[in-house]
Amino acid sequence: MIKFPQNFLWGAATSAYQVEGNNIHSDWWEWERRIGLKEVSGEACRHYQLYKQDFTQAKELGHNAHRLSIEWSRVEPREGDFLDTEMEHYLDVVLCLKGLGLEPIVTLHHFTNPWWLAKLGGWQNKEAVAYFLRYTEKIVARLCEHVRFWVTINEPLVYIYFSYILGDWPPQKKSFFWAKIVFDNLVKAHVGAYRIIHRIYAEKKNNRPLVSLAQNLQAFAGWNNSLRNKCAVYLRNAFFNFNIIEKLKRSKALDFIGINYYTRMLVDAKKWNLRSLLLDKKEDDAPGMKKNSLGWDIYPQGLYDLLLSLKRFKIPLMILENGICTENDNLRWDFIRQHLKKINLAMGKDVNILGYIYWSLLDNYEWDKGFSPRFGLIELDYKTYARRPRESAKKFAEVCKTGVLADE
Ligand code: BGC
Repeated sequence: MIKFPQNFLWGAATSAYQVEGNNIHSDWWEWERRIGLKEVSGEACRHYQLYKQDFTQAKELGHNAHRLSIEWSRVEPREGDFLDTEMEHYLDVVLCLKGLGLEPIVTLHHFTNPWWLAKLGGWQNKEAVAYFLRYTEKIVARLCEHVRFWVTINEPLVYIYFSYILGDWPPQKKSFFWAKIVFDNLVKAHVGAYRIIHRIYAEKKNNRPLVSLAQNLQAFAGWNNSLRNKCAVYLRNAFFNFNIIEKLKRSKALDFIGINYYTRMLVDAKKWNLRSLLLDKKEDDAPGMKKNSLGWDIYPQGLYDLLLSLKRFKIPLMILENGICTENDNLRWDFIRQHLKKINLAMGKDVNILGYIYWSLLDNYEWDKGFSPRFGLIELDYKTYARRPRESAKKFAEVCKTGVLADE
């Protein structure tokens, strides 16, 4: 029997664009149509209309927290034009969570941008920082009485990797030069937002908020022990995992470290150049290596190792995303269980962890991969929009309700 602390936060996450539907002023919406993406987000999960039902379900599943994001392009569909009705919508969303006893964890930026900002060069334009801070100020002023946990930016490095290095996501650049500019702008945006949030709470004499970003951490392992792979693992840990945390800690702009963890990458650098050192990988086809439906290795030990290596920062941690897309719900439960065991083990080694938020509450729009990857605790029928909690959700609910992971 494995026990978690009484005040541990338990829940699941969503992001606005992936669940709400009809985010027509977003750069993703425009891009999906322009490139003729096979599956467009469309109505997504109709969560914009059905959020009360979804949160009630989360409550019934024992959750005491929920991570959501605000869709910037809804709130500010044209530059400087902040829509009161949409700000009011997000206030209702947060109040609904509070009314159910779920702690809201609010993300300000989860991959998508207003289309007007993209037309101005998006995050390549240094003005993006000021625009983001103005939007932050409006949202935080509206929600600050009800929100304690803020996440400024979701996975800056994943965003940069897909949008500015691999060139798979809008604006489809493949440039280390632009990647570095965007990185610097996102860091400035985080630090600025951190300070604004704290200033607003101090002015209103509200309790201190806890502000972080959601940092995707990936476990990296060389597929063999060559010097090149050792260097590549070192560089990837620095570049993708730890640099940003070090930077933000130095700027005193992290109250906790939000962690998203999914998988391990087997590193196989073919050449001595930056692209190869940072990007080349190998499929792990070792017999017995379990994978999700997108082919990502399931590797709970990686989370444990990363949690222990974060101890040196002396900042509390929170798992803001951990999840699996699979058609096999037994595998989902096994995934959750194995990761919870590792989290608990790390806590036993004095790693301070505030909560565990599964990705995702519902099956949803998995970006350019469309609707087939099924990450949800709750299954969605995209024809009827009916929701049905999976068995894994019910097993997870027992842990959320009791704080105990029973032996199986
Ligand atoms: C992102 C989510 C995404 C999930 C699964 C995370 O990197 O924050 O938006 O759906 O991974 O790929």
